[in-house]
Amino acid sequence: MRLILTAIFAAVIALPVQAAEPTYFNSKTEKPLKLKHRKKQVITEAVTQFHETGANPYSGDKAALDDGGKLYQKRCKACHAADGSGKVGPSLQDEEWMYPRTDTDVGRFEIIYGGGKGSMRGFGRQMDQDDILKVMAYIDLFRSDDPAAKAAVIKEEKKATPGKSLPPVPFSEEYLASTTNIDVGGEIWAAQCRHCHGAKAYPGKAPKLKPAKYKPDWVFSRVTDGFRKMPAWKDEYSDDERMKIVAYIMSGSFSP
Ligand code: HEC
Ligand code: HEC
Repeated sequence: MRLILTAIFAAVIALPVQAAEPTYFNSKTEKPLKLKHRKKQVITEAVTQFHETGANPYSGDKAALDDGGKLYQKRCKACHAADGSGKVGPSLQDEEWMYPRTDTDVGRFEIIYGGGKGSMRGFGRQMDQDDILKVMAYIDLFRSDDPAAKAAVIKEEKKATPGKSLPPVPFSEEYLASTTNIDVGGEIWAAQCRHCHGAKAYPGKAPKLKPAKYKPDWVFSRVTDGFRKMPAWKDEYSDDERMKIVAYIMSGSFSP
């Protein structure tokens, strides 16, 4: 009797936890994944909670996002790009997933912990599980519709790539002389630049440009990356549009 009671008791307390507890799979082999690396790590409250619910407790948590951002810059940026747009690794900005399970917290934890089929290696040996949850919270921002969250990511990106972007193809004489390019650049200037740099802009808002002193590549890098109070325009305009702005500034038709 006592044995039965104990068994029932055990089942009752074990059930709610077990019912929600996720099973982890290796993204490469699709076999169950054992979380055995780094025995010395501290298993935090957040990690325990994650293993019970399969939901990342750090989602949207400011302090965790700060740490997650730093980890991302250090460990992930090289392949997924500072803004998550992707390089060697796929974009983390969209809802298109390469693996059937990576559209959930559990699936993303699996691939970050255990690695993927290609060059995505597992970080379970280098990172504590707590840090993996923080980096997961950070990459959620790449898909977020919340403008403040996005702004935080873009700020990280600016810090990560300070200055000196070169045009994708070198400026040629023909490119700079093309009236189509100059006209398109002139329209962007009127819409986005004149209110700060224009002849009628409030004095001190932005310097009057002196194209005679500039080289096209330098103007391109300023427009692309920004500088102090000059905003960066690389998220706003394509490479080609930014090249056309340069063509306009360097041309005889430039009139601030
Ligand atoms: C050496 C390059 C490389 C690094 C470093 C890297 N990744 Fe990846 N990542 C990839 C590749 C490539 C894939 C696609 C799966 C594969 O081929 O392994 C991928 C896939 C992913 C996926 C799944 C995307 C999908 O569409 O299913 C996530 C999430 C992810 N990486 C997050 C991270 C995080 C977080 C880090 C840093 C802790 C990181 N990656 C570091 C290359 C990398
Ligand atoms: C919000 C105001 C603002 C807007 C909008 C703006 N700029 Fe600027 N820009 C600045 C400021 C301020 C500086 C000076 C930054 C510094 O040196 O600290 C600057 C500097 C520059 C410089 C370098 C000038 C020099 O001689 O050092 C270039 C080139 C430039 N901007 C081009 C542009 C273009 C092209 C656009 C439109 C796509 C644009 N700016 C839009 C504020 C602005």
